[in-house]
Amino acid sequence: MSSIESIIAGVGSFLPANVVTNHDLAKRVDTNDEWIRSRSGIAQRHIAGDDEATSDMATAAAWNALDQAGLKPRDIGLIIVATVTPDKTFPSTAVYVQQKLGVPPGIAFDVSAACAGFLYAMNVADTFVSSGQVKHALIIGAEKLSCFLDWNDRATCVLFGDGAGAVVLSGEEAQTAAPPRGVLATYLSADGRLAKHLYADGGPATTKTVGLVRMNGKDVFRNAVQEISNAVFEVTERAKVSRHEIDWFVPHQANIRIIESCARKLELDMDKVVVTIDQHANTSSASIPLALDAGVRDGRIKHGELLVFAALGGGLAWGSALVRY
Ligand code: UT7
Repeated sequence: MSSIESIIAGVGSFLPANVVTNHDLAKRVDTNDEWIRSRSGIAQRHIAGDDEATSDMATAAAWNALDQAGLKPRDIGLIIVATVTPDKTFPSTAVYVQQKLGVPPGIAFDVSAACAGFLYAMNVADTFVSSGQVKHALIIGAEKLSCFLDWNDRATCVLFGDGAGAVVLSGEEAQTAAPPRGVLATYLSADGRLAKHLYADGGPATTKTVGLVRMNGKDVFRNAVQEISNAVFEVTERAKVSRHEIDWFVPHQANIRIIESCARKLELDMDKVVVTIDQHANTSSASIPLALDAGVRDGRIKHGELLVFAALGGGLAWGSALVRY
């Protein structure tokens, strides 16, 4: 019996031109470059302008992914945007991306799972593609977190940045003689009992405001190391591969110390980990596709290699995906 594999056919990203360094931030809040670098690994972040909406960044990233895939907007049957900073409360940012790209009527919606959002989107898109419902899907992580930060709270405002990353998932017939390609396994979870550790203190149905990011850093940190490592174990078990076969670990970029702790637990050398936290800071749902694009475009990540993605964030929600690129 033939089966369809969800292949990564193209990857793209977009970062706003405005770069804000730790030194720039030290002029606004009581912080310093040394603290930010040593506690988080961040050196700088990109901050979107007033005229750059989440859908603009998402669209720019999507064009780059379509280009790499050799596809046109008319080929896309599904758009999922993972974001916690939508252009509007409704409709979805995905429909604005659809409009801006010129994608014909088809399925388009957002997922809200904070930093794990891109992996939630990948899981859903994989279901559509591998079941043959759509041939080509665009999954995008895009965030304008700068509009959502308390610029007087040094414990959070120094940690985040803006940007977008996109992946085209395409359905291809599995080759019986070749090892499986594309999305091999995914794993998702969330625990609302931990929502109090990372959230926005507003919303349309409560304060009628957007709210600002609030975080208990230490609690999130502890959960991140535990659940991101577990999530990698889960997908390798589900796909029946040894974690020693992993070529590249592309984790959510929230803190270099979280990434290093996970790599240690997974017995993965840091040479096999894609790190962009220093350049991008934490871009929530955009961070994994941004890191993937960085690794693909500088030639480190090659076709045929085994990639594992994993993330944890607000929810708390977490997940992972194992992909043969
Ligand atoms: O993407 C979603 C997931 N998010 C995460 O995974 C983030 C997880 N958490 C973290 O990355 C870390 O907990 C932080 C980077 C947020 C904080 O690191 P920490 O080692 O847990 O520091 P802390 O919060 O315990 O703060 C230590 C000290 C405090 O001072 P006292 O109370 O020891 O005097 C803070 O007030 O550092 C102080 N501090 C700062 N100092 C200079 C907090 N923020 C700053 C700052 N600059 N920006």
